[in-house]
Parts: sequence; C-alpha cells; structure tokens
Amino acid sequence: MSRLCSAMVKGRRAGLEMAENAKPKRNRTKTAVKHGPHKCSSSSTYHSFLDAADVVLLRSQLLGWYDKEKRELPWRTTAMTETDVNIRTYAVWVSEIMLQQTQVTTVKDYYNKWMKRWPTVHDLAAATLEEVNQMWAGLGYYSRGKRLHEGAQKVVSELKGQMPQTADSLLKQLPGVGRYTAAAIGSIALGQVTGAVDGNVIRVLCRLRAIGADSTSPAVTEALWDLANTLVDPERPGDFNQAMMELGARICTPKAPLCSQCPVQTHCRSYRKVNAKQEQNSKKLLGKMGKKPLIVPDIEDCGNTETCSLCPSEPWDDELGVLNFPRKPAKKPPRQERTLSCVVIRRQEEGEDEYLLTQRPDKGLLAGLWEFPSLLLDGENSETKQKKLLCAEISRILGTRLTESLFQSVGEVVHIFTHIHQTYIVYSVCLKDGKTQTKTDNTQWLSRSALHEAAVSTGMKKILKLSDSLDSRRQQPSTDGKRKNPLDIKTTKKVKKPRLGGINGGGKQLSLNSFFTSVKEEP
Ligand code: ADE
Repeated sequence: MSRLCSAMVKGRRAGLEMAENAKPKRNRTKTAVKHGPHKCSSSSTYHSFLDAADVVLLRSQLLGWYDKEKRELPWRTTAMTETDVNIRTYAVWVSEIMLQQTQVTTVKDYYNKWMKRWPTVHDLAAATLEEVNQMWAGLGYYSRGKRLHEGAQKVVSELKGQMPQTADSLLKQLPGVGRYTAAAIGSIALGQVTGAVDGNVIRVLCRLRAIGADSTSPAVTEALWDLANTLVDPERPGDFNQAMMELGARICTPKAPLCSQCPVQTHCRSYRKVNAKQEQNSKKLLGKMGKKPLIVPDIEDCGNTETCSLCPSEPWDDELGVLNFPRKPAKKPPRQERTLSCVVIRRQEEGEDEYLLTQRPDKGLLAGLWEFPSLLLDGENSETKQKKLLCAEISRILGTRLTESLFQSVGEVVHIFTHIHQTYIVYSVCLKDGKTQTKTDNTQWLSRSALHEAAVSTGMKKILKLSDSLDSRRQQPSTDGKRKNPLDIKTTKKVKKPRLGGINGGGKQLSLNSFFTSVKEEP
C-alpha cells in the first residue's frame, strides 16, 4: 500500500473512531496531502475528511450557525424539553415520518394537531385507522400514517408500550422506519452518535466532497454514510444531524445555493473547484496559460477520475457551478392516467346536501381513503361513452337504473403523484330523492362539512372545488336576468365546461393548475 493510501485508511479509521467513541481527538496531525492531486484507489482521499482538525472545525462552524439560525420547530422543542424518553422517541418518530417527502412548513400544523390528539404511543395505538387517515388527509403518501398506526399498535401489544431505544432496534421493529429514519430518531431523541443521511444531507455531502457519481448508487450511498458517521458531533449528534438538514434546506439548496452565507464554505470542494475553474478560464481568456494547462494536473480534482466510483461520469459543466454535484439518474417520466370521477349529490330538502363517497381498497395507491366514485380509463373515450360508463357504475352502486342524461360534464382536474400524472375527468349528477341509498359495501353519504373532515385525498378536494365553481356559475344570473336552477338535473342541455377569462370568457378550458398548485401524493 502506498504511504498516501495507508495514511488515508488510518485517517478514515480515526474519523470513524471519533464517531463511535464519542470523543474527538483534537491534536491529530494532518494526514492528507494538501497540495496536488489526491491519488488513491476507488474512494480517493479527495472525497473524504482525513484531517481530524478539519472535522472538529467543521462541526463547530456548522453548530455555531445552527444555534443562531435554526428554525424553532415543535419537534425540536419536544426533543430538547421532554424528559420522558418514551414520549420523546414517539414524538420524534412522528415528526420524522411526516417529514419524509413533505416540507417542514406543511408538516408543522399536522404535527401539532397530531400530538394534541395522540400525545403518546398508547393514544395512537387506541385510534382507528379511519381516524388516522382523516388526520393525515392532505399530507400525501398515505401509507406513512398507516405504518405509524401499525407501529404504535405493535409497540403497545408486543413491546409493553416501550418505544425501541436504539437506531438498530427502531429499524428492526417499526414498519416504515428505514436506515435514515432510525438514525434520525436515534440521534435526535436518544442522543445516539450516528450520522443520518437524507436527501438534503446527500446534497450537502456530495458538494462538500465533490461526489458526482450517481447519488443513488451503492458506492455513493456507503461513502455518504461513512462521511456522515465521520462528521457527526459526538457531543451533539441530534443537533449536528439537524444542522446538516437545515443547511441543505436553507443554504445548500438544490437550485440556488447561497454559498456566500455557508458556514462550512471553506471545507467545500465544489466551491473551491468552481473558483479554480473560473480562475483557469479567466487566465485562458487573458492568454496567460498557453498550452500548459493540458499537462498541469488540476489540484481541485480527485486525481483518479477514470476509475473512481465517486467521481462524476459526466463532464464538468461550467454553467452549473456547484450544481455539478450531486448527480441523479434521469427520472422515469410519470405514467399518464385518466380517470372518470363523478360527484353524486343527494339533495336534502332541509339541511346540507350529501355527497356519495366510495372507499379505496386497503392496499395500494391512497389505500383506504374515500373518493368520489371513479373509474380508471384505458384509452380515449367520447363524452357519450364516458357518461355511459359512469352511468352504469353509479347505477350499480345505487342499485337503480339512472339515465345518462343526468350526468353533466364538469371539467378536468390534474393531480400529480410522484409516479403518476393523473387527469380526473369530472362529471356530476344530482339526485332529487334525498333518501337514495347505496347497494354496495364501502360507500357513505357525507354532508359537505363532514366531507371536509373526512379521509379524502387532495385530488378529491380539487374535484369538489371544481364542481363548486361550476355550481356557482350555474347559480349566477344569466343574461336574461333569470337564475339558472342548479337542481334542474333533468335538463338535457349540455353544461358548458368552465372557461378561463372570467366574465369576458377567455375561451380556454379551465386548467386546474390555475386553481391549485400541484401537490405530490403517493400511496
Ligand atoms: N427533515 C427531516 N428531519 C428533520 C428535522 N428534524 N428538522 C428539519 N428537517 C428535517
């Protein structure tokens, strides 16, 4: 082994020991070659932290920034102030599950409501899945709520109500808890000294150490966990991990990083590389370099780019700057789906009208949630065909024969799931008989106010909003000054789809995106 490589391995061990033994060794001498290309085998020194003093400095810079700049978040307060370790672990578990795939600002309100209703793991275990889904409605990725509920029931029935107390046991015992979530709960709630690598941390680490290979590859994943375990502050592991996340969310952002405000800028290989490239380019422009740069090695480089499993396979792009890191494989385009959906209203002579909802299967996309009766289409259909299909479906649910002319076209709603681009083609039908019953299982009639509280997905809420907009249009006086009767469902007159352009009528079909911003949802 070359001297450099052996120094690297020693340094690497030193880094890991620091994490494991919970005591930094402050006077370690520098082990890495500071000037010149960093040469070694697969994972080069260039992509690691070998100098213990650097690590100590980075920790104090990052934590100093975090102490001043961190957002006050309810789960952070609980993690700091709650003395009961079981409640603390439960609270951080809830927050981490909610924060998977969802932004901090959205999570805050959900989290506060959840903890008010179910302050302990026992309270959650005693809830019904329906109540959990109701509470989760609008947060997306609904299986998360279901797993939290399953996990709570397991803790109560199999673990005597005691939350697992290590990252390893959290990972093994709780459904929906993976490597990151276990490490986050372990460090934040239990003070365990482990790094935690989520999406924000991947970006921060890839930029810090110029890791540009596919960030989802096993080699990069392992290197990132090694780095996180090396860097984590043994005195404040939970704060350190949250500081890394905070840095990724607020400074080292995906598209417009604020490098000038970064507390760890001096450790950032991407930042240095960008500056070195700029310097090189301006020298080139001034004609100072002649042919030399072709043979002078780039000091801001791995030195082993050809075989390194952490270096980018794509060439450096000057335009991207630090955004050259990280790199992800191109995403598969989302599947296009079209679904017929029907708002069935049961008019009440007194009190609120009621809406027909059917429950989705308890597995798969939006499991167990309530929706307006819907049918997935397998191709393009004419409006006549669509009405025919829906009429047959609603007739089946109600156990009666409706006529197709009752069905009115409302418009289209687009809703984006992570892997599906869903277009709902919306119809409505009004039933004058306020006592109409259903003949199939898993259906219910809900008043409007109950619908707002129910476990329905965001897509359905958009549909309701669109249907309302059509209703209110119908109720506006027509040009002859008469009010159109929204209850007159017998009319065979075609209801026009809503149009953009307000009173002047812009001529374009109303796009849902003009109403709502798309929310990503998941199973
Ligand atoms: N994302 C995941 N966990 C987080 C936390 N504890 N604070 C802020 N963002 C997070």
